[in-house]
Amino acid sequence: MSAIEALKWRYATKKMNGEPVSQDKVDQIIVAAHLAPTSSGLQPYKIIVVTNPELKEKIKAVAYGQSQITDCSHLLIFAAWENYTEENIRAVFARTHQERGLPGDSNSDYVNNLVANYTARSEEENFTHAAKQAYIGFGVAITEAAFLKVDATPMEGFQAAALDELLGLKDLGLRSTTLLPLGYRDAAGDWLVNLKKVRTPLNDFVIEFK
Ligand SMILES: Cc1cc2nc3c(=O)[nH]c(=O)nc-3n(C[C@H](O)[C@H](O)[C@H](O)COP(=O)(O)O)c2cc1C
Repeated sequence: MSAIEALKWRYATKKMNGEPVSQDKVDQIIVAAHLAPTSSGLQPYKIIVVTNPELKEKIKAVAYGQSQITDCSHLLIFAAWENYTEENIRAVFARTHQERGLPGDSNSDYVNNLVANYTARSEEENFTHAAKQAYIGFGVAITEAAFLKVDATPMEGFQAAALDELLGLKDLGLRSTTLLPLGYRDAAGDWLVNLKKVRTPLNDFVIEFK
């Protein structure tokens, strides 16, 4: 299957049927996100996996009652670093150098500049930057799920501050960005499943400078 075929098959599933997704498929979706590119390779986000039914109920309550949260098999929560710090930037480069067996350390000019630039910015600006990186992984996870014929609903419709509080994300230096329930469509109960996928016409979507 091509990526385009997979993306035509997928849709923002509104009703899931509660069937479990195999751990192997969930793992592949997470690995795909893990392989996504990020700015300077910092990977400033984590993926939280929720399967606990009581916790899912509590999360649904801060997500406008969206049923996919409890009817899904695995709920992925993408949570970005609340800030960049000298410590978390240098730690990434120290590991990269070590794993590549390269001479040098995390004090190169490049890393020093990165630390200087990022730590001079406000926490909100840094969180926004980190969240953008999380969205790249989110998109890749959505695509991989489609390849595996696993349904998924990209979600921003939740109260992030309430979810962060519920999961104690502040203590982990994280803030939630998006939710991705994984499961299988309940075709009979889903109003969207048979509706045409509508997009801005391609000739209006692409601007060419020749
Ligand atoms: C970042 C993001 C947030 C979204 N939030 C929600 C949401 O909270 N609930 C929902 O049912 N759909 C949500 N959607 C789904 C979009 O409405 C949907 O992707 C869009 O209408 C295109 O339709 P398609 O995904 O079926 O092709 C979200 C999509 C994205 C990318």
